[in-house]
Amino acid sequence: MRIKSGIEGFDALVEGGLLQGRQYLVSGSPGSGKTTFGVQFLTAGALEGEAGAYIALSESIGTIEDDMSRYNTQIGDLIKNNKLIFIDLGPSVNYGEYDEVSNLITPDYRQQSGDSPANQAPTPFSVFKDVEKHVKQSGIKRLVIDSLSSIRFTTQNPASEERSIGRFIRNLKTLGCTTILLSELTKPDAYTIEQFASHGVIFLHNFMDKQGSMVRALQIIKMRGTKHDCEMRSIEFSDKGLKVGKMLKK
Ligand SMILES: Nc1ncnc2c1ncn2[C@@H]1O[C@H](COP(=O)(O)OP(=O)(O)OP(=O)(O)O)[C@@H](O)[C@H]1O
Ligand SMILES: [Mg+2]
Repeated sequence: MRIKSGIEGFDALVEGGLLQGRQYLVSGSPGSGKTTFGVQFLTAGALEGEAGAYIALSESIGTIEDDMSRYNTQIGDLIKNNKLIFIDLGPSVNYGEYDEVSNLITPDYRQQSGDSPANQAPTPFSVFKDVEKHVKQSGIKRLVIDSLSSIRFTTQNPASEERSIGRFIRNLKTLGCTTILLSELTKPDAYTIEQFASHGVIFLHNFMDKQGSMVRALQIIKMRGTKHDCEMRSIEFSDKGLKVGKMLKK
């Protein structure tokens, strides 16, 4: 079954909507619209009765709620009615706190308890366990993870990191939610495990043209089981949020 993405102009590019229960990666540069895309997707579902959760791993949920409420005044009510839930799973220790704690405990104790800054940071495993709990408790049907980039680089070993991100995505698939994974796009031509493991990949771009004006664009890179548009399309932020428009001129 196909469900509405909530992004004006997007569903027509993917045979009418996203496939329910699948995992999609929305990857983009800073400020390209990832959070807006994710919140619009959740809001569209929540307005039709599907509970949605936004898992924030790097930004404060208060800021996201405030910024996104500007696009849709119903967001406050959806939050009150538990149809839209913002969950902060970011690092729990504030800057400086660890140093204070560290001065009070002996190195021996730290070694035994595994109490190091690395252990305070969310990992793919800890995030999955928390997400699973919330999905079961609150009957979540739509999920946004912001961002996969925040749970990368938690180990020193790149091969084990790739495996653990792959395992994270495979485990998310078992929860039955339609999921949007957000990630930072640093090199569009570098293929990552999340691109291979997701059912669909959407890139959001913002770059300067030759005249120095900002160009915003969306491009669907992959969408399994779907005849989809492949062009770079302009996007704009209207009063209602992101909107996909015409093909960019070549
Ligand atoms: N009310 C608004 N009207 C129009 N454009 C806006 C408005 N609010 C924000 N924007 C634009 O949206 C951008 C931020 O969008 P968003 O937070 O979705 O991006 P992001 O990709 O999640 O960013 P980040 O990489 O920082 O997480 C801003 O940089 C600004 O250009
Ligand atoms: Mg964001």
